[in-house]
Amino acid sequence: MTIEKRSWAEPYKIKMVELLKMTTRGEREKAIHEAGYNTFLLRSDDVYIDLLTDSGTSAMSDDQWSALMRGDESYAGSRNFYNLWDAIKEFYGYKYYVPTHQGRGSEHMLSQLLIKEGDYIPGNMYFTTTRLHQEKAGGNFVDVIVDEAHDAQNEFQFKGNVDMSKMEKLIADVGADKVPYISLEGNVNMAGGQPFSMENLKELYSFCKKHDIKIYLDATRTAENAWFIKTREKGYENKSVKEIVYELCSYTDGCTMSAKKDSLVNIGGFFATNDEELCKKAQNFCVIFEGLHTYGGMAGRDMEAMAVGIKESMGDDHQRARVGQVQYLGQQLQKYGIPIVLPVGSHAVFIDAKAFLPHLDQNDLPSQTLAAEIYVESGVRVMERGNVSAGRDPETGENRCPKLELVRLTLPRRVYTQAHMDVIAESIKEVWDRRDTITGLKFVYEPEVLRFFQSRFEKK
Ligand code: F0G
Repeated sequence: MTIEKRSWAEPYKIKMVELLKMTTRGEREKAIHEAGYNTFLLRSDDVYIDLLTDSGTSAMSDDQWSALMRGDESYAGSRNFYNLWDAIKEFYGYKYYVPTHQGRGSEHMLSQLLIKEGDYIPGNMYFTTTRLHQEKAGGNFVDVIVDEAHDAQNEFQFKGNVDMSKMEKLIADVGADKVPYISLEGNVNMAGGQPFSMENLKELYSFCKKHDIKIYLDATRTAENAWFIKTREKGYENKSVKEIVYELCSYTDGCTMSAKKDSLVNIGGFFATNDEELCKKAQNFCVIFEGLHTYGGMAGRDMEAMAVGIKESMGDDHQRARVGQVQYLGQQLQKYGIPIVLPVGSHAVFIDAKAFLPHLDQNDLPSQTLAAEIYVESGVRVMERGNVSAGRDPETGENRCPKLELVRLTLPRRVYTQAHMDVIAESIKEVWDRRDTITGLKFVYEPEVLRFFQSRFEKK
């Protein structure tokens, strides 16, 4: 039971611990140099506190670990497939589903099945893998998020909202028959983990009904989005996260899902839909690219742990502590005057690298530079979300230079304590104090797609 008048506390106790390794500054300088100044290329053994991502990094509960033992590893028709189906129906309300190895497997499926060459896919800001799959299927991504989302300091409470006038303009420009669906992301990652409101979704729903455009939700962090609806939107304060998720899914046609986030598992995802015919096509697609349609790239035990994780992710107490910890880190950083994206989102605190390193040009890669500096200072691993992540424009070949040039401090779920949050904030303060001395980076190796994962850099 939530006791709202007291501060949040973790709604669990710790049964097992994993020891952390401390390193010296000299060791870290060597490690980041060897990693080409890309935190993705560091070895995790050289990392003290790992805030690279909240993806697949959560701590599972004892119930989830027990679920692994209930894995039914039959090739076809595993009972775990059916248990996961029951969880998806109960919590998300979709009728059909296909398991996938992780989120991008379901994005691949949706994009290939619904997009035709020359189509337009609106979205409330891009996500790296989502947009790439849309483009590979012949589609063009169109950003229809509200302008406030592109302004790191704007404190609008629902920066994940769709700007309906941008939707109207798109339909007027290209025609609704060129828009198979809108990809709607809960707690928009690239905007700083920002939620959409139920009111905005309802408006989008009637617009899309009128124009016969489907709404496919990126449900990756939708339970966290629901927590913001509960705490910020009038009329939802007495609804549970479970009720809110169920309601918001009822205004959509299906979803893609990376269960590695909300659903508290280390691997897995799914594609869900209410369209039986589309599900049959997705099952066929699954057999080619993922695995049989009753496991889709996961072991039976993975599906069982996910079914339990979905249920745990819908707990109000879980979300209160989850989001509470992220907000706490944001407050600590603000206390030191460090420029962050406001309001603080649910899965991460995003540092505004343009404001942190105003002396660097965007082509000096300020976010990449800052991520490397934070590692050297403290062994805390964070990640770039700016010019490197945005990639190059396929037409011009130029860097996309996005408005938001961010460093993401992503918090794994149920992994670190409040004392870790203090140490992280203190470490970043030390980098802040010597910010004027920091110089930029340049590419020495740049892969063609999703370059942020594998690029290498050197100091300018
Ligand atoms: N959609 C969103 C909003 C995501 O954040 C991610 C992954 C995906 C889809 C793809 O899912 O990794 O399971 O294939 N985000 C991770 C991150 C990688 O660190 O933000 P996946």
